[in-house]
Amino acid sequence: MIKDITYINQEIVSKSDINTEFYNGNDVYIETYGCQMNVNDSEIVSGILVQHGYRIVDDISKSNIVLLNTCSVRDNAEAKIMHRLAHLKAYRKQNKKLIVGILGCMAERLKGKLIGKQDLVSIVIGPDEYRKVPELIEQAQNGESGIAVKLSKVETYSDIIPLRTEGFSAWVSIMRGCDKFCTYCIVPFTRGNERSKPFPIIINEVIDLQKQGIKEVTLLGQNVNSYVDLVNKADFAKLLDEVAKAVPEMRIRYTTSHPYDMTDELIEVMANHQNICKYIHLPVQSGSERILKLMNRHYTPEYYLERIEKIRFMMPYISLSTDIISGFPTENEEDHQQTLYLMEQVRFDGAYMFNYSPREKTKAYKWTDDVSDETKKRRLNEIIDLQNKISKENNKNEIGRIHEVLVEGASKKNKFQWQGRSDTNKVVIFDNANLKYQAGNIVKCKIKDSTSATLFGDVID
Ligand code: SAH
Ligand code: SF4
Ligand code: F3S
Repeated sequence: MIKDITYINQEIVSKSDINTEFYNGNDVYIETYGCQMNVNDSEIVSGILVQHGYRIVDDISKSNIVLLNTCSVRDNAEAKIMHRLAHLKAYRKQNKKLIVGILGCMAERLKGKLIGKQDLVSIVIGPDEYRKVPELIEQAQNGESGIAVKLSKVETYSDIIPLRTEGFSAWVSIMRGCDKFCTYCIVPFTRGNERSKPFPIIINEVIDLQKQGIKEVTLLGQNVNSYVDLVNKADFAKLLDEVAKAVPEMRIRYTTSHPYDMTDELIEVMANHQNICKYIHLPVQSGSERILKLMNRHYTPEYYLERIEKIRFMMPYISLSTDIISGFPTENEEDHQQTLYLMEQVRFDGAYMFNYSPREKTKAYKWTDDVSDETKKRRLNEIIDLQNKISKENNKNEIGRIHEVLVEGASKKNKFQWQGRSDTNKVVIFDNANLKYQAGNIVKCKIKDSTSATLFGDVID
Protein backbone atom coordinates (compact mmCIF):
# COMPACT_ATOMS: atom_id res chain seq x y z
CA MET A 1 0.00 0.00 0.00
CA ILE A 2 1.16 3.46 -0.82
CA LYS A 3 0.46 5.48 2.25
CA ASP A 4 2.48 8.55 1.51
CA ILE A 5 0.88 11.61 0.01
CA THR A 6 3.22 11.44 -2.90
CA TYR A 7 3.43 9.91 -6.34
CA ILE A 8 6.82 8.42 -7.08
CA ASN A 9 6.82 11.87 -5.78
CA GLN A 10 9.69 13.81 -4.47
CA GLU A 11 11.87 10.80 -4.78
CA ILE A 12 14.99 11.92 -6.50
CA VAL A 13 15.76 10.12 -9.71
CA SER A 14 19.16 10.64 -11.20
CA LYS A 15 21.20 9.21 -14.02
CA SER A 16 24.38 7.24 -14.05
CA ASP A 17 27.33 8.80 -15.81
CA ILE A 18 27.02 8.90 -19.55
CA ASN A 19 29.77 9.73 -22.01
CA THR A 20 28.93 11.72 -25.06
CA GLU A 21 30.84 11.61 -28.32
CA PHE A 22 31.35 15.35 -28.54
CA TYR A 23 31.93 16.19 -24.92
CA ASN A 24 31.91 19.96 -24.43
CA GLY A 25 33.40 19.83 -20.96
CA ASN A 26 30.14 20.49 -19.10
CA ASP A 27 28.54 18.04 -16.70
CA VAL A 28 24.86 18.36 -15.80
CA TYR A 29 23.12 16.91 -12.77
CA ILE A 30 19.31 16.60 -12.97
CA GLU A 31 16.95 15.99 -10.06
CA THR A 32 13.43 14.94 -10.87
CA TYR A 33 10.34 15.52 -8.71
CA GLY A 34 6.67 14.88 -9.43
CA CYS A 35 4.98 12.42 -11.73
CA GLN A 36 6.20 9.90 -14.29
CA MET A 37 5.75 12.52 -17.03
CA ASN A 38 8.52 14.47 -15.36
CA VAL A 39 10.72 11.39 -15.16
CA ASN A 40 10.36 10.91 -18.91
CA ASP A 41 10.83 14.65 -19.50
CA SER A 42 14.15 14.53 -17.64
CA GLU A 43 15.16 11.73 -19.99
CA ILE A 44 14.15 13.96 -22.92
CA VAL A 45 16.16 16.90 -21.52
CA SER A 46 19.12 14.54 -21.01
CA GLY A 47 18.74 13.35 -24.61
CA ILE A 48 18.81 16.95 -25.86
CA LEU A 49 21.83 17.83 -23.70
CA VAL A 50 23.84 14.80 -24.80
CA GLN A 51 23.16 15.72 -28.45
CA HIS A 52 24.75 19.09 -27.65
CA GLY A 53 27.88 17.60 -26.11
CA TYR A 54 26.93 17.73 -22.43
CA ARG A 55 27.48 14.82 -20.09
CA ILE A 56 24.80 13.77 -17.59
CA VAL A 57 26.22 12.80 -14.19
CA ASP A 58 24.62 11.20 -11.15
CA ASP A 59 26.77 12.93 -8.57
CA ILE A 60 26.05 16.56 -7.82
CA SER A 61 29.60 17.18 -6.65
CA LYS A 62 30.87 16.36 -10.16
CA SER A 63 28.80 19.02 -11.86
CA ASN A 64 28.61 22.80 -12.23
CA ILE A 65 25.10 22.75 -13.62
CA VAL A 66 22.15 21.56 -11.53
CA LEU A 67 18.66 21.33 -13.01
CA LEU A 68 15.62 20.65 -10.83
CA ASN A 69 12.64 19.27 -12.73
CA THR A 70 9.77 20.31 -10.51
CA CYS A 71 6.12 19.66 -9.62
CA SER A 72 3.35 22.12 -8.66
CA VAL A 73 0.47 19.78 -8.03
CA ARG A 74 0.20 20.50 -4.30
CA ASP A 75 1.66 23.18 -2.12
CA ASN A 76 3.97 20.73 -0.33
CA ALA A 77 5.53 19.68 -3.66
CA GLU A 78 6.63 23.27 -4.20
CA ALA A 79 7.72 23.73 -0.58
CA LYS A 80 10.09 20.82 -1.06
CA ILE A 81 11.82 22.59 -3.97
CA MET A 82 12.17 25.78 -1.97
CA HIS A 83 13.93 23.77 0.75
CA ARG A 84 16.14 22.15 -1.80
CA LEU A 85 17.14 25.56 -3.16
CA ALA A 86 18.10 26.72 0.33
CA HIS A 87 20.26 23.63 0.59
CA LEU A 88 21.86 24.25 -2.81
CA LYS A 89 22.68 27.77 -1.75
CA ALA A 90 24.94 26.40 0.95
CA TYR A 91 26.45 24.13 -1.64
CA ARG A 92 27.21 27.06 -3.92
CA LYS A 93 29.49 28.46 -1.21
CA GLN A 94 31.85 25.58 -2.02
CA ASN A 95 31.34 25.79 -5.77
CA LYS A 96 31.18 29.39 -6.96
CA LYS A 97 30.58 28.35 -10.58
CA LEU A 98 27.38 26.49 -9.80
CA ILE A 99 24.48 27.24 -12.15
CA VAL A 100 20.98 26.30 -11.04
CA GLY A 101 17.97 25.92 -13.33
CA ILE A 102 14.32 25.16 -12.62
CA LEU A 103 12.44 23.05 -15.15
CA GLY A 104 8.95 21.59 -15.15
CA CYS A 105 5.61 22.63 -13.74
CA MET A 106 6.89 25.08 -11.11
CA ALA A 107 8.89 26.86 -13.81
CA GLU A 108 5.72 27.19 -15.86
CA ARG A 109 3.62 28.33 -12.92
CA LEU A 110 5.96 30.83 -11.33
CA LYS A 111 7.93 31.93 -14.40
CA GLY A 112 10.13 34.99 -13.82
CA LYS A 113 9.38 34.97 -10.09
CA LEU A 114 11.86 32.13 -9.77
CA ILE A 115 14.79 34.02 -11.26
CA GLY A 116 17.18 34.99 -8.51
CA LYS A 117 15.44 32.77 -5.93
CA GLN A 118 17.88 32.17 -3.08
CA ASP A 119 20.22 34.33 -5.14
CA LEU A 120 20.80 31.19 -7.11
CA VAL A 121 18.35 30.43 -9.92
CA SER A 122 19.36 31.77 -13.33
CA ILE A 123 17.46 29.44 -15.67
CA VAL A 124 13.68 28.83 -15.77
CA ILE A 125 12.27 26.53 -18.47
CA GLY A 126 8.72 25.22 -18.83
CA PRO A 127 7.71 21.75 -20.12
CA ASP A 128 7.28 22.78 -23.76
CA GLU A 129 10.59 24.62 -24.14
CA TYR A 130 13.17 21.95 -23.35
CA ARG A 131 14.83 22.34 -26.74
CA LYS A 132 16.19 25.62 -25.37
CA VAL A 133 17.97 24.05 -22.39
CA PRO A 134 21.47 24.04 -24.01
CA GLU A 135 21.09 27.64 -25.20
CA LEU A 136 19.96 28.90 -21.80
CA ILE A 137 22.78 27.07 -20.03
CA GLU A 138 25.28 28.77 -22.31
CA GLN A 139 23.64 32.11 -21.66
CA ALA A 140 23.77 31.53 -17.89
CA GLN A 141 27.49 30.66 -18.16
CA ASN A 142 27.93 34.12 -19.68
CA GLY A 143 26.20 35.66 -16.69
CA GLU A 144 22.76 36.19 -18.20
CA SER A 145 19.56 34.76 -16.73
CA GLY A 146 17.10 33.13 -19.10
CA ILE A 147 13.40 32.26 -19.09
CA ALA A 148 11.55 30.08 -21.62
CA VAL A 149 8.01 29.24 -20.57
CA LYS A 150 5.82 29.38 -23.69
CA LEU A 151 3.31 26.56 -23.90
CA SER A 152 2.93 24.91 -27.27
CA LYS A 153 -0.06 23.39 -29.06
CA VAL A 154 2.14 20.98 -31.00
CA GLU A 155 5.36 20.11 -29.15
CA THR A 156 5.60 16.36 -28.42
CA TYR A 157 9.41 15.92 -28.70
CA SER A 158 8.67 13.13 -31.20
CA ASP A 159 12.12 13.39 -32.75
CA ILE A 160 14.08 13.37 -29.48
CA ILE A 161 15.49 10.09 -28.23
CA PRO A 162 15.12 10.13 -24.43
CA LEU A 163 18.27 9.16 -22.57
CA ARG A 164 17.15 6.08 -20.69
CA THR A 165 19.62 4.59 -18.30
CA GLU A 166 17.58 2.61 -15.85
CA GLY A 167 16.78 -1.06 -15.86
CA PHE A 168 14.55 -2.97 -18.18
CA SER A 169 11.49 -0.74 -18.07
CA ALA A 170 11.02 2.35 -20.21
CA TRP A 171 8.60 5.27 -20.21
CA VAL A 172 7.13 6.31 -23.54
CA SER A 173 5.16 9.59 -23.58
CA ILE A 174 2.31 9.30 -26.04
CA MET A 175 0.56 12.58 -25.34
CA ARG A 176 1.17 15.82 -23.44
CA GLY A 177 -1.05 18.33 -21.69
CA CYS A 178 -4.58 18.10 -20.38
CA ASP A 179 -7.91 19.59 -21.52
CA LYS A 180 -10.02 18.28 -18.65
CA PHE A 181 -9.72 21.23 -16.26
CA CYS A 182 -10.72 19.51 -13.05
CA THR A 183 -11.48 22.47 -10.80
CA TYR A 184 -8.71 21.71 -8.27
CA CYS A 185 -5.90 20.95 -10.69
CA ILE A 186 -2.96 23.05 -11.86
CA VAL A 187 -1.80 20.62 -14.56
CA PRO A 188 -3.74 22.15 -17.51
CA PHE A 189 -2.06 25.47 -16.66
CA THR A 190 1.45 24.07 -16.33
CA ARG A 191 1.30 21.57 -19.18
CA GLY A 192 -1.01 23.28 -21.67
CA ASN A 193 -3.42 21.73 -24.16
CA GLU A 194 -3.63 18.09 -25.02
CA ARG A 195 -1.67 16.90 -28.04
CA SER A 196 -0.76 13.39 -29.11
CA LYS A 197 2.39 11.94 -30.59
CA PRO A 198 1.87 10.46 -34.08
CA PHE A 199 0.86 6.80 -34.02
CA PRO A 200 3.65 5.44 -36.31
CA ILE A 201 6.33 7.16 -34.20
CA ILE A 202 5.10 5.43 -31.05
CA ILE A 203 5.02 2.04 -32.76
CA ASN A 204 8.60 2.54 -34.00
CA GLU A 205 9.73 3.70 -30.57
CA VAL A 206 8.47 0.57 -28.81
CA ILE A 207 9.92 -1.70 -31.52
CA ASP A 208 13.32 0.01 -31.04
CA LEU A 209 13.05 -0.44 -27.28
CA GLN A 210 12.34 -4.13 -27.71
CA LYS A 211 15.44 -4.43 -29.93
CA GLN A 212 17.48 -2.73 -27.19
CA GLY A 213 16.43 -5.43 -24.74
CA ILE A 214 13.81 -3.43 -22.81
CA LYS A 215 11.23 -5.80 -21.33
CA GLU A 216 8.44 -3.42 -20.31
CA VAL A 217 7.09 -0.10 -21.57
CA THR A 218 4.67 2.26 -19.87
CA LEU A 219 2.70 4.50 -22.22
CA LEU A 220 2.49 7.85 -20.49
CA GLY A 221 0.26 10.89 -20.45
CA GLN A 222 -1.80 12.99 -18.05
CA ASN A 223 -4.78 11.47 -19.79
CA VAL A 224 -3.53 8.59 -21.89
CA ASN A 225 -6.95 7.38 -22.84
CA SER A 226 -7.91 10.63 -24.52
CA TYR A 227 -5.04 9.96 -26.97
CA VAL A 228 -6.05 10.68 -30.55
CA ASP A 229 -4.15 10.73 -33.84
CA LEU A 230 -6.67 12.07 -36.38
CA VAL A 231 -4.35 11.60 -39.35
CA ASN A 232 -3.87 7.91 -38.69
CA LYS A 233 -7.37 7.48 -37.23
CA ALA A 234 -6.15 6.03 -33.97
CA ASP A 235 -7.64 6.43 -30.51
CA PHE A 236 -6.04 4.96 -27.38
CA ALA A 237 -7.75 1.56 -27.73
CA LYS A 238 -6.38 1.23 -31.27
CA LEU A 239 -2.91 2.42 -30.24
CA LEU A 240 -2.76 -0.04 -27.35
CA ASP A 241 -3.95 -2.89 -29.58
CA GLU A 242 -1.29 -2.11 -32.19
CA VAL A 243 1.49 -1.68 -29.61
CA ALA A 244 0.58 -5.04 -28.05
CA LYS A 245 0.81 -6.67 -31.49
CA ALA A 246 4.02 -4.86 -32.50
CA VAL A 247 6.00 -6.00 -29.43
CA PRO A 248 4.47 -9.31 -28.33
CA GLU A 249 7.42 -10.16 -26.08
CA MET A 250 7.19 -6.94 -24.11
CA ARG A 251 4.97 -6.12 -21.18
CA ILE A 252 2.81 -3.06 -21.76
CA ARG A 253 1.47 -0.70 -19.12
CA TYR A 254 -0.14 2.71 -19.31
CA THR A 255 -0.88 5.60 -16.97
CA THR A 256 -2.86 7.73 -16.16
CA SER A 257 -6.31 7.07 -17.48
CA HIS A 258 -9.44 9.10 -16.79
CA PRO A 259 -12.62 7.18 -15.89
CA TYR A 260 -14.62 9.23 -18.42
CA ASP A 261 -12.48 7.91 -21.30
CA MET A 262 -12.38 4.29 -20.09
CA THR A 263 -14.25 2.89 -23.08
CA ASP A 264 -15.55 -0.65 -23.62
CA GLU A 265 -13.16 -0.97 -26.58
CA LEU A 266 -10.19 -0.13 -24.36
CA ILE A 267 -11.23 -2.68 -21.74
CA GLU A 268 -11.67 -5.31 -24.45
CA VAL A 269 -8.22 -4.61 -25.94
CA MET A 270 -6.69 -5.07 -22.48
CA ALA A 271 -8.49 -8.35 -21.99
CA ASN A 272 -7.51 -9.60 -25.47
CA HIS A 273 -3.75 -9.28 -25.08
CA GLN A 274 -1.75 -11.39 -22.71
CA ASN A 275 1.16 -8.89 -22.82
CA ILE A 276 -0.92 -5.93 -21.62
CA CYS A 277 -0.47 -5.85 -17.85
CA LYS A 278 -3.59 -6.44 -15.83
CA TYR A 279 -3.36 -3.29 -13.78
CA ILE A 280 -5.19 0.02 -14.09
CA HIS A 281 -4.63 3.25 -12.18
CA LEU A 282 -8.04 4.92 -12.37
CA PRO A 283 -8.26 8.03 -10.18
CA VAL A 284 -11.73 8.41 -8.66
CA GLN A 285 -10.99 11.47 -6.42
CA SER A 286 -14.25 11.22 -4.43
CA GLY A 287 -17.23 8.94 -3.83
CA SER A 288 -19.70 11.82 -3.60
CA GLU A 289 -21.70 12.72 -6.69
CA ARG A 290 -22.01 16.31 -5.51
CA ILE A 291 -18.26 16.69 -4.98
CA LEU A 292 -17.41 14.98 -8.29
CA LYS A 293 -19.65 17.52 -10.02
CA LEU A 294 -17.90 20.40 -8.26
CA MET A 295 -14.59 18.86 -9.28
CA ASN A 296 -15.74 18.81 -12.94
CA ARG A 297 -14.87 15.13 -13.26
CA HIS A 298 -17.68 14.32 -15.76
CA TYR A 299 -18.79 11.09 -14.07
CA THR A 300 -20.90 9.91 -11.15
CA PRO A 301 -19.96 7.25 -8.58
CA GLU A 302 -22.48 4.94 -10.32
CA TYR A 303 -20.73 5.39 -13.66
CA TYR A 304 -17.33 4.74 -12.05
CA LEU A 305 -18.61 1.56 -10.37
CA GLU A 306 -20.13 0.37 -13.62
CA ARG A 307 -16.72 0.79 -15.34
CA ILE A 308 -15.07 -1.22 -12.56
CA GLU A 309 -17.70 -3.92 -12.93
CA LYS A 310 -17.05 -4.15 -16.68
CA ILE A 311 -13.27 -4.25 -16.09
CA ARG A 312 -13.58 -7.03 -13.52
CA PHE A 313 -16.05 -8.96 -15.65
CA MET A 314 -13.51 -9.01 -18.49
CA MET A 315 -10.41 -9.45 -16.26
CA PRO A 316 -11.30 -10.99 -12.89
CA TYR A 317 -7.79 -10.87 -11.38
CA ILE A 318 -6.95 -7.33 -12.43
CA SER A 319 -5.41 -5.04 -9.85
CA LEU A 320 -6.73 -1.50 -9.46
CA SER A 321 -5.40 1.64 -7.84
CA THR A 322 -6.74 5.15 -7.51
CA ASP A 323 -6.21 8.73 -6.33
CA ILE A 324 -8.41 10.29 -3.65
CA ILE A 325 -8.60 13.92 -2.58
CA SER A 326 -9.91 14.56 0.91
CA GLY A 327 -11.31 17.88 2.15
CA PHE A 328 -12.33 19.49 -1.15
CA PRO A 329 -14.27 22.76 -0.58
CA THR A 330 -17.73 22.14 0.95
CA GLU A 331 -17.01 18.42 1.54
CA ASN A 332 -19.21 17.39 4.46
CA GLU A 333 -19.34 14.26 6.59
CA GLU A 334 -21.83 12.60 4.27
CA ASP A 335 -19.60 13.18 1.22
CA HIS A 336 -16.67 11.73 3.14
CA GLN A 337 -18.69 8.66 4.15
CA GLN A 338 -19.61 8.17 0.48
CA THR A 339 -15.90 8.12 -0.41
CA LEU A 340 -15.27 5.45 2.24
CA TYR A 341 -18.27 3.51 0.95
CA LEU A 342 -17.00 3.62 -2.64
CA MET A 343 -13.60 2.37 -1.45
CA GLU A 344 -15.35 -0.55 0.28
CA GLN A 345 -17.26 -1.34 -2.88
CA VAL A 346 -14.28 -1.24 -5.25
CA ARG A 347 -11.66 -2.60 -2.86
CA PHE A 348 -8.68 -0.97 -4.60
CA ASP A 349 -5.29 -2.66 -4.31
CA GLY A 350 -3.63 0.68 -3.67
CA ALA A 351 -4.34 4.39 -3.50
CA TYR A 352 -2.54 7.72 -3.52
CA MET A 353 -4.39 9.80 -0.96
CA PHE A 354 -4.06 13.55 -0.61
CA ASN A 355 -5.48 16.46 1.32
CA TYR A 356 -6.92 19.12 -0.94
CA SER A 357 -4.40 21.87 -1.63
CA PRO A 358 -5.71 25.13 -3.15
CA ARG A 359 -3.87 26.08 -6.34
CA GLU A 360 -3.94 29.59 -7.74
CA LYS A 361 -5.56 29.97 -11.21
CA THR A 362 -7.80 26.91 -10.74
CA LYS A 363 -11.56 27.36 -10.45
CA ALA A 364 -11.72 25.89 -6.95
CA TYR A 365 -9.15 28.43 -5.75
CA LYS A 366 -11.92 31.03 -5.78
CA TRP A 367 -14.01 28.92 -3.41
CA THR A 368 -13.42 28.99 0.31
CA ASP A 369 -11.10 26.25 1.49
CA ASP A 370 -13.66 25.64 4.23
CA VAL A 371 -12.77 22.20 5.58
CA SER A 372 -10.59 22.79 8.62
CA ASP A 373 -7.08 21.33 8.71
CA GLU A 374 -8.10 19.17 11.63
CA THR A 375 -11.07 17.68 9.78
CA LYS A 376 -9.04 17.20 6.59
CA LYS A 377 -6.41 15.36 8.58
CA ARG A 378 -8.92 13.16 10.37
CA ARG A 379 -10.75 12.27 7.14
CA LEU A 380 -7.50 11.55 5.31
CA ASN A 381 -6.39 9.27 8.14
CA GLU A 382 -9.69 7.38 7.95
CA ILE A 383 -9.21 6.98 4.20
CA ILE A 384 -5.61 5.79 4.64
CA ASP A 385 -6.54 3.35 7.41
CA LEU A 386 -9.36 1.85 5.36
CA GLN A 387 -7.11 1.52 2.30
CA ASN A 388 -4.39 -0.16 4.36
CA LYS A 389 -6.89 -2.65 5.70
CA ILE A 390 -8.23 -3.43 2.21
CA SER A 391 -4.74 -3.71 0.69
CA LYS A 392 -3.76 -6.13 3.42
CA GLU A 393 -6.85 -8.26 2.87
CA ASN A 394 -6.47 -8.21 -0.93
CA ASN A 395 -2.83 -9.25 -0.63
CA LYS A 396 -3.76 -12.08 1.73
CA ASN A 397 -6.00 -13.42 -1.03
CA GLU A 398 -2.92 -13.52 -3.27
CA ILE A 399 -1.44 -16.37 -1.23
CA GLY A 400 -1.30 -19.48 -3.41
CA ARG A 401 -1.54 -17.52 -6.68
CA ILE A 402 1.21 -17.63 -9.30
CA HIS A 403 2.55 -14.38 -10.78
CA GLU A 404 4.97 -13.61 -13.58
CA VAL A 405 7.51 -11.26 -12.05
CA LEU A 406 9.89 -8.96 -13.93
CA VAL A 407 13.07 -9.10 -11.84
CA GLU A 408 14.44 -5.68 -10.79
CA GLY A 409 17.30 -6.41 -8.38
CA ALA A 410 18.21 -7.02 -4.75
CA SER A 411 15.63 -5.85 -2.22
CA LYS A 412 16.52 -2.94 0.03
CA LYS A 413 16.68 -5.01 3.19
CA ASN A 414 18.52 -8.16 2.18
CA LYS A 415 20.89 -8.76 -0.72
CA PHE A 416 19.86 -12.41 -1.02
CA GLN A 417 16.20 -11.49 -1.27
CA TRP A 418 15.45 -10.01 -4.68
CA GLN A 419 12.44 -8.11 -5.86
CA GLY A 420 10.44 -7.55 -8.99
CA ARG A 421 6.97 -6.53 -10.09
CA SER A 422 4.05 -8.74 -10.95
CA ASP A 423 2.04 -8.08 -14.07
CA THR A 424 -0.51 -6.59 -11.63
CA ASN A 425 2.14 -4.07 -10.48
CA LYS A 426 2.72 -5.55 -7.01
CA VAL A 427 6.18 -5.82 -5.50
CA VAL A 428 7.14 -9.48 -5.10
CA ILE A 429 10.12 -10.57 -2.97
CA PHE A 430 11.77 -13.94 -3.58
CA ASP A 431 14.90 -15.80 -2.59
CA ASN A 432 17.88 -15.37 -4.97
CA ALA A 433 20.77 -16.39 -2.69
CA ASN A 434 22.65 -18.16 -5.49
CA LEU A 435 22.04 -15.30 -7.94
CA LYS A 436 20.32 -17.61 -10.39
CA TYR A 437 18.02 -14.84 -11.58
CA GLN A 438 19.15 -11.57 -13.15
CA ALA A 439 17.49 -8.19 -13.53
CA GLY A 440 15.34 -8.29 -16.65
CA ASN A 441 14.40 -11.98 -16.29
CA ILE A 442 10.75 -12.91 -15.96
CA VAL A 443 10.23 -15.56 -13.28
CA LYS A 444 7.14 -17.37 -12.08
CA CYS A 445 6.53 -16.88 -8.37
CA LYS A 446 4.07 -18.71 -6.17
CA ILE A 447 2.93 -16.34 -3.43
CA LYS A 448 3.35 -17.69 0.10
CA ASP A 449 2.98 -14.61 2.30
CA SER A 450 2.03 -10.95 2.13
CA THR A 451 1.75 -7.58 3.85
CA SER A 452 -0.34 -4.57 2.82
CA ALA A 453 2.53 -3.41 0.58
CA THR A 454 4.42 -6.52 -0.52
CA LEU A 455 4.02 -10.11 -1.67
CA PHE A 456 6.55 -12.85 -0.84
CA GLY A 457 6.91 -15.81 -3.17
CA ASP A 458 8.95 -18.85 -4.21
CA VAL A 459 10.22 -19.08 -7.75
CA ILE A 460 8.76 -22.13 -9.48
CA ASP A 461 10.35 -23.48 -12.67
N1 SAH B 1 -4.02 13.28 -14.80
C1 SAH B 1 -4.13 12.48 -13.69
C2 SAH B 1 -3.63 13.05 -12.39
C3 SAH B 1 -2.63 14.08 -12.33
S1 SAH B 1 -2.31 14.82 -10.80
C4 SAH B 1 -5.58 12.18 -13.51
O1 SAH B 1 -6.45 12.94 -13.83
O2 SAH B 1 -5.85 11.16 -12.98
C5 SAH B 1 -2.24 13.43 -9.70
C6 SAH B 1 -3.23 13.48 -8.60
O3 SAH B 1 -2.96 14.56 -7.75
C7 SAH B 1 -4.68 13.68 -9.00
O4 SAH B 1 -5.30 12.50 -9.41
C8 SAH B 1 -5.29 14.21 -7.74
O5 SAH B 1 -5.75 13.18 -6.91
C9 SAH B 1 -4.13 14.90 -7.06
N2 SAH B 1 -4.28 16.36 -7.06
C10 SAH B 1 -4.30 17.17 -8.14
N3 SAH B 1 -4.49 18.46 -7.75
C11 SAH B 1 -4.61 18.44 -6.41
C12 SAH B 1 -4.84 19.44 -5.44
N4 SAH B 1 -5.01 20.71 -5.77
N5 SAH B 1 -4.88 19.07 -4.12
C13 SAH B 1 -4.72 17.77 -3.78
N6 SAH B 1 -4.52 16.79 -4.65
C14 SAH B 1 -4.47 17.11 -5.97
FE1 SF4 C 1 -5.57 17.38 -13.52
FE2 SF4 C 1 -7.97 16.50 -14.06
FE3 SF4 C 1 -6.21 16.83 -16.03
FE4 SF4 C 1 -5.88 14.87 -14.28
S1 SF4 C 1 -7.60 15.08 -15.71
S2 SF4 C 1 -4.32 16.29 -14.99
S3 SF4 C 1 -6.63 15.76 -12.39
S4 SF4 C 1 -7.10 18.43 -14.78
FE1 F3S D 1 3.38 17.56 -10.85
FE2 F3S D 1 3.42 18.61 -13.23
FE3 F3S D 1 3.30 16.01 -12.96
S1 F3S D 1 2.33 19.41 -11.51
S2 F3S D 1 2.16 15.79 -11.06
S3 F3S D 1 4.98 17.27 -12.34
S4 F3S D 1 2.35 17.21 -14.54
